[in-house]
Amino acid sequence: MVHEPSQRDRTQPAGMAAPATTARANVNLALVKYWGKRDQALNLPATGSISLTLDALSVEASVAFGGGEADRVEIDGAEAAGDEVLRVVRFLDLVRAETGRRERALVATRSTVPRGVGLASSAAAFAALALAASRAAGGSGSAARSIFGGFVEWRRGERADGRDSVAEALAPPGFWDVRVVVAVTSSAPKAVSSRAGMERAATSPFYPAWVAGAEADLAQARAAIRARDLEALGLLAEHSALKMHAVGMAARPPLLYWRGATVDCLDRVWKLRAEGTPAFATIDAGPQVKVLCTPDDARRVAEALSAVPGVERVLTCAPGGGAEVMA
Ligand code: DP6
Repeated sequence: MVHEPSQRDRTQPAGMAAPATTARANVNLALVKYWGKRDQALNLPATGSISLTLDALSVEASVAFGGGEADRVEIDGAEAAGDEVLRVVRFLDLVRAETGRRERALVATRSTVPRGVGLASSAAAFAALALAASRAAGGSGSAARSIFGGFVEWRRGERADGRDSVAEALAPPGFWDVRVVVAVTSSAPKAVSSRAGMERAATSPFYPAWVAGAEADLAQARAAIRARDLEALGLLAEHSALKMHAVGMAARPPLLYWRGATVDCLDRVWKLRAEGTPAFATIDAGPQVKVLCTPDDARRVAEALSAVPGVERVLTCAPGGGAEVMA
């Protein structure tokens, strides 16, 4: 998919002395999920994860350091408040600590992804922000994976300071031409953020099993990607997603991101498979269903999902590139 030519001033924060730097990042879809932290404050993951960066859904972030009393954040043209600002400020504090800068910043993001619906737009936003602010750390944990295109692994790391918990490119976008069909079942903002969901997951009796199974899942996913084995990767991605949601269901209080249409989409994907179409579902912290398939089957999968009652729209994505600073 070809991106629109960028217009630099679309995300240029107004009223700042320093010129803004703008970067763009694509969303990424986890095939082996990140769901739980080994360090809350540093936002370090309890397990590694593997994702595919998608084209067509991206976020641009502009950062201008300069005057002003406090950091300001604009999201899609509107001044942000509360938690959204706090996350950005915490991130900018890391950037300031790392670079020795002290000025406040004005951050503006613009997205082609509906926010808060489990399409990981915050990962793309923080990857773009990280690049615009010249340091890929903090923010949304899974943002690290949007720095690279194609298949990406974010390592758990062992160090307490998290310096070895980094993202690594496994295969570039051109390595394997697959499709992801996204069935949007609700565009309402999600009630429980990933962060809060992960905290709750730790109360689940299934959480230790989830963590214990991660290394084996990662090894199988790496091997399936290397072999371009869609069935192996798809079955594993489905298994990882369903385990993640099972952890939430058994948490206290329980956590279930699904709606009726989510289950119906899952069921439709299983029917497609029974009929001979290799299609595999995954679900993030929201009610949308994302389906991995071949380019040849993408239309059939999209048509099947569009016909499921409650599906608002369907988008088809191909592997996308890494984050980039815009000229
Ligand atoms: C379900 O990266 O949004 O999409 O680090 O707490 O900001 P924080 O969480 P975030 O979580 C992503 C969760 C997920 C699975 C995944 O992308 O691996």
